[in-house]
Amino acid sequence: MRTARARHYLMCRPTYFDVVYSINPWMDPAKPVDTPLAIAQWERLREVYLSLGHTVDTIDPVPSLPDMVFAANGATVVDGRALVARFRDAERIAEGPAYHNWLRDNGFPALRTAAFVNEGEGDYLLAGDWLLAGTGFRSDPRSHDEAQEYFGRPVIGLTLVDPDYYHLDTALTVLDETTVAYYPPAFSPGSRAVLERLFPDALLATAADAEVFGLNATSDGYNVVLPQNATELAGQLRERGFNPIGVDLSELLKAGGSVKCCTLELRRDA
Ligand code: ARG
Repeated sequence: MRTARARHYLMCRPTYFDVVYSINPWMDPAKPVDTPLAIAQWERLREVYLSLGHTVDTIDPVPSLPDMVFAANGATVVDGRALVARFRDAERIAEGPAYHNWLRDNGFPALRTAAFVNEGEGDYLLAGDWLLAGTGFRSDPRSHDEAQEYFGRPVIGLTLVDPDYYHLDTALTVLDETTVAYYPPAFSPGSRAVLERLFPDALLATAADAEVFGLNATSDGYNVVLPQNATELAGQLRERGFNPIGVDLSELLKAGGSVKCCTLELRRDA
């Protein structure tokens, strides 16, 4: 029997969402973006969370920051302690202070801005006691040591090798304290071996499911919210006793993001 635990999420409405620069292979500024549709899709995701009993806070979007909808990148919040992002790309740097201020004003006094490039929950995913930490494209491996010192949790570094899967949360999702799903080809051979050792029962995603960002999902331990086109992964989840809930975030995928990217988990309890 799988049990759901209510979550506390932070999201950012894609009011100013657009693709005007390219910092990952999914982003093509020549392709038109339908911002009203992006907003409607995002509202639907928020409604799904509310219907599951989760708390959803929102941070005000900033007009000059079209990627700010990807709240997962703003910070990593574990045991009530927040490590605020330091973005790699100039286009997103100002998001860090925006998330810092929101967290400061909303009851997270233990706050620190990362010294090294660190793109928040895009690259840091809590799995039980461990913090899985991506590197290779965005977060600097030196930020892994910093996170381990700051959170006092073992940090497991994982190296990403495929530019299409540039953040850890595009290639791996945490389903519960001991279960993950991932796309093996996105990782270096050594990191794949680490994942096999730590998670011998992991669900392995197909290339088709990875390409539609199927791994960019959130889970409350039972309900797994994922892109609706990841149909094989949804089947695997059902077989393993999870409840997959597909959502359509096609507009946000034009910027290389989906469900998880839009969702920052705020973990207050130590
Ligand atoms: N356009 C954004 C970027 O390239 C997408 C971020 C997606 N977020 C994530 N958590 N993977 O930075």
